[in-house]
Amino acid sequence: MDSLALHSLSALLLLLITSASAAASDPTNQFCDARIGYGDSGCGVSAAASSSKILIKGGTVVNAHHQEIADVFVEHGIIVDVKPNIKIGDDVTVLDATGKFVMPGGIDPHTHLAFDFMGTRTIDDFFSGQAAALAGGTTMHIDFAIPVGGSLIAGFEAYEERAEKSVMDYGFHMAVTKWDDTVSKEMEIMVNEKGINSFKFFMAYKGALMINDVLLLEGLKKCKSLGALAMVHAEHGDAVFEGQKRMIELGITGPEGHALSRPAVLEGEATARAIRLAAFVNTPLYVVHVMSIDAMEEIAKARKSGQKVIGEPIVAGLVLDDSGPWDPDFVTAAKYVMSPPIRAAGHGKALQAALSTGILQLVGTDHCVFNSTQKSLGIDDFRKIPNGVNGIEERMHLVWDTMVESGQISVSDYVRITSTESARIFNIYPRKGAILAGSDADIIILNPNSSFEISTSTHHSRTDTNVFEGRRGKGKVEVTIAGGRIVWINDELKVTPGSGKYVKMPPFSYLFAGIDKVDAMYFSSLKAPVKRAW
Ligand code: URP
Ligand code: ZN
Ligand code: ZN
Repeated sequence: MDSLALHSLSALLLLLITSASAAASDPTNQFCDARIGYGDSGCGVSAAASSSKILIKGGTVVNAHHQEIADVFVEHGIIVDVKPNIKIGDDVTVLDATGKFVMPGGIDPHTHLAFDFMGTRTIDDFFSGQAAALAGGTTMHIDFAIPVGGSLIAGFEAYEERAEKSVMDYGFHMAVTKWDDTVSKEMEIMVNEKGINSFKFFMAYKGALMINDVLLLEGLKKCKSLGALAMVHAEHGDAVFEGQKRMIELGITGPEGHALSRPAVLEGEATARAIRLAAFVNTPLYVVHVMSIDAMEEIAKARKSGQKVIGEPIVAGLVLDDSGPWDPDFVTAAKYVMSPPIRAAGHGKALQAALSTGILQLVGTDHCVFNSTQKSLGIDDFRKIPNGVNGIEERMHLVWDTMVESGQISVSDYVRITSTESARIFNIYPRKGAILAGSDADIIILNPNSSFEISTSTHHSRTDTNVFEGRRGKGKVEVTIAGGRIVWINDELKVTPGSGKYVKMPPFSYLFAGIDKVDAMYFSSLKAPVKRAW
């Protein structure tokens, strides 16, 4: 072994040892416990998990536009072949998928791991959050890197460090929270050097992450010039601030005050405003966590007019209603506090319908979890309850049960909204989001005849609550393969810190096709300046 290889090996061992000992001294985490096996670090890796060649036999292989009964052969982390009756040698782990669906692993486009927010840090980091994801069939996520002191470079570096213990592949969006020439230059560096192709603008969280319309306009123009996708958290932040004051003046200080202070009309307003500004600039727009009919209808209208607007509902918004924050128990009520708030039941149903008809395109989670102690920061004042709910582990099961089992979408549609569309929008298809020769071996085997049940006592997140507590349904992810490794099988996780890779996402996705032509037509349509006699 040469000295470079020896050096890399010792660095890896050091990382594993450091992570393991940090885990042992951290009372909040579950490393190496009964639920999370720890590959290469002494918790045991099964023969299956350690094989680099895998044959998945006889399943129904589903892509976004096609399904067929076929075998899938994986070697060294890549899908090598997809066809019936593949013949192989003995050194291959064989998984029988007869009667089951073999699909691309989920890609969650919206997560917050190790996120410093509202005076605390999310309890799930890049290890525990990703372990939870894998147990639920998600094999890649795109997290929001947040600038440090307004600096995108400092923010990126901080997140690079936090992601070192990753157990699955991940990418980053970058938030923009202030505007000046440095930020503008840093956006170029993010796109041209760091593999980021999307920037998020928070139209809410006044006094913290919120930007104003001037910044949004500058940001949209810059995104367009870089071929990067502009994303918005759409709520009218000033009006939310006013709504919060109103609730406090009325003496409503509990979690229900959160939802009451930011009604759907404020989400609809901001969604419409962002859409119109994106139309004015002629650049694509991605609206994150669409929670209401109000926002969804703005997106529908814009898409009908030909505008490139992507709408992302999240699983909590699809399946829950607004009753949670009214629970008499503070801890139970506070676990549902997120922004925009989870709306009344009719909204979730309408979002499901919009997803099934293509008005909305893909499902995220906005996984951003705080435990009961952290949520209790707002025991006397709902404005201090850290905002966020779970979903990274539950998304694939709940979308299957809610959308496929109910007959609203096909299995191919399921693949599209949980995986392929994320890969296309963020320009990493078909490396991700497909079961094709040459794609990364991120694969799930889902048994439609098996069932799941969600419980805090069995989930893999570090949080001590679950907004989907007690939910049961049909369709269970029985096997997850990430980067060619079997990481979830027989209800056991086998994960290795550091095994996840950062996925660079190139600019100018399909959403940018034709933008230049529309610009050219617009400019040529402008009448020549009127010549006036003096
Ligand atoms: O409540 C939420 N959504 N927390 C995460 C931050 C955000 O707005 O996405
Ligand atoms: Zn948001
Ligand atoms: Zn979010």
